[in-house]
Amino acid sequence: MGTQLHEDLRQLPQILQSAMQLGLQYLEGIDQRPTSVQHPNIVWPGLPLDGLGGAGAQQVFEKVFLPAIVASSGPRYWGFVTGGTTPAAIAGDWLSAVFDQNTQSTTGTGDASALLELQTVQLLLDLFGLPGHFMGAFVTGATMANFSGLAVARQWVGQQLQYDIARDGLRKDIKVFAGSPHSSSLKALAMLGIGSKQVVSVPLLHGREAMDTAALQQLLPADPSEPFIIIASAGTVNTVDFDDFEAILSLRKSYNFWLHIDAAFGAFAACSPAHSRLLQGWEHADSITVDFHKWLNVPYDSAMIFTRKEHGRLQMQSFQNSSAPYLGNPEEQFSYLNFVPENSRRFRALPVWFTLMAYGKEGYRVLVEQSIALANDLAAVIVETGYFHMAAPVRLNTVCFSVHPDYTERINQDKLLQYINEEGKVFMTPTNYGGKPCIRAALVNFRTNPEDIGIAIISIKSAVQKILHP
Ligand SMILES: Cc1ncc(COP(=O)(O)O)c(C=O)c1O
Repeated sequence: MGTQLHEDLRQLPQILQSAMQLGLQYLEGIDQRPTSVQHPNIVWPGLPLDGLGGAGAQQVFEKVFLPAIVASSGPRYWGFVTGGTTPAAIAGDWLSAVFDQNTQSTTGTGDASALLELQTVQLLLDLFGLPGHFMGAFVTGATMANFSGLAVARQWVGQQLQYDIARDGLRKDIKVFAGSPHSSSLKALAMLGIGSKQVVSVPLLHGREAMDTAALQQLLPADPSEPFIIIASAGTVNTVDFDDFEAILSLRKSYNFWLHIDAAFGAFAACSPAHSRLLQGWEHADSITVDFHKWLNVPYDSAMIFTRKEHGRLQMQSFQNSSAPYLGNPEEQFSYLNFVPENSRRFRALPVWFTLMAYGKEGYRVLVEQSIALANDLAAVIVETGYFHMAAPVRLNTVCFSVHPDYTERINQDKLLQYINEEGKVFMTPTNYGGKPCIRAALVNFRTNPEDIGIAIISIKSAVQKILHP
C-alpha cells in the first residue's frame, strides 16, 4: 500500500482529472441515462492485496458498478422527493472533500469552517424570509433534523417539569400530537425513547392531510401548564398539505407546547411570493426542519435544523459532550459538536454556500416556480389521457394520482407503475392516500423542463396500452 499510495500522490492530478471526466460524462448524459436498473448483475471483486491505485480502482468501478448507476439526479426521477445537483453545489461538495475540514468550533482557533456554516445559516434565513431569532445547524437529512428538533423539544418538556431528561432519562410519558407526520418524525420519537406510539393522531380536515385545529384543541390536556409537543407539517409527502400554523399558534394562549415544523421541502414555498402564504406563521415555531438535498439541489446528504436562539441552552444540554475536557468546555465556547448529534462533521455548509452565492434569491425563485408550473402541467396532461384522476389538487410540486374509476377493473395500477419504471424514462413511487393506492411524482429538480413532461406522458400512455392491449 505504501508504494501504491505514494505513487498515487504523484499521480494526483491525473486521478482527479479522470474522476472529473467520469463525472462530466455522467452529467452530460444524464437526460438519456435510465432512471432505473433491472436486477443489476454485479460481480464484486474482493479486497486486493497490494491495491490497484486510484486509477485502477476507477477502472474496476466503471466496469463493475457504473452500469448500475441510475439518473437519480436527472430531470425525470420523480420518486420520493429527490433533488438534483446544481453545478456550483457539485463544485462546493467536491471541495469540501478536498479541504476535509471537521466543522465544529467557531472560536476561530484551528479549523474555522464553522464560521462559514454560521454565515450560510444567515443566507438561508434570508432565502426563507425567516427572522434572526433562529440559529441553524447542518445535519445529514430531514430525519436527523426532525430527530434534533424533537430532542430539544424533549429537553424542553423536562425543563417544564423541572428535570433534565438528557441527564436523568425519561421519568414519564411525553404527549405528542400530530396530523400527518412524516415517518421520519415517528422514527425520531422512537430513537428518542419517547416512543412512536405515543403520538396522538389528530383528526384531519375533510379531504386534506392537514390537522383539524378545532379537533386538536379537544384532545389537548386539561391542565394548561402541562407541557407537550406538536409536530406540524409544511408539505406532507403525499399531497404537500400544510397545517395551519397560525391557528395552531393561537392555542398558545391557553396551552403549553413546543411547535416543531417539518418543512423538509415545503420550506421552499417561501421562495415563491405566490406560494409563501402556505407558511404563514411558521416563524413562530420552536424548531423547523429543512432538507437541502431536495429542492435546494445540493448533493446528498444535507439538511438543517433551525431552532430558536432562546432554546440554545436546551439544545446544548441535549447534545453536549460532558466529561470530555479535550473537546473544550461547552459552557464557555460555542461549538457545533455540542449542538447536534454528530461530533465530527463534514464541511456540509460549503456546497450550500456555493449554490446560494451562485444563483441567489432570484435563481431559487425561478427554480421553485418552474417545478411548481411543471407539476401543474404534468397533472393536466395525466388527467387529459382520460385514464387517471388526481387524488389531490397540486398544491406545490407533487402530483398524486390514481387510475380513473372507469378503468380500475382493466388497469392494474401496480403493474402500470412497474411498466413505467421498468422502461427507465421516468421514475415514480407508489403511495397510499385516503386509504387508496396512488402514484406520486415529486418535481424538485432544476433540470426538469417541458420536454420531460412530454417524455413522461408518452411513457405513461405506452404502459397503459401495454396493459389494455397485451
Ligand atoms: C416531509 C419530509 N420529512 C422528512 C423526510 C426525511 O428526509 P431525509 O430522507 O432527508 O431524512 C422527508 C423525505 O422525503 C420528507 O418528505
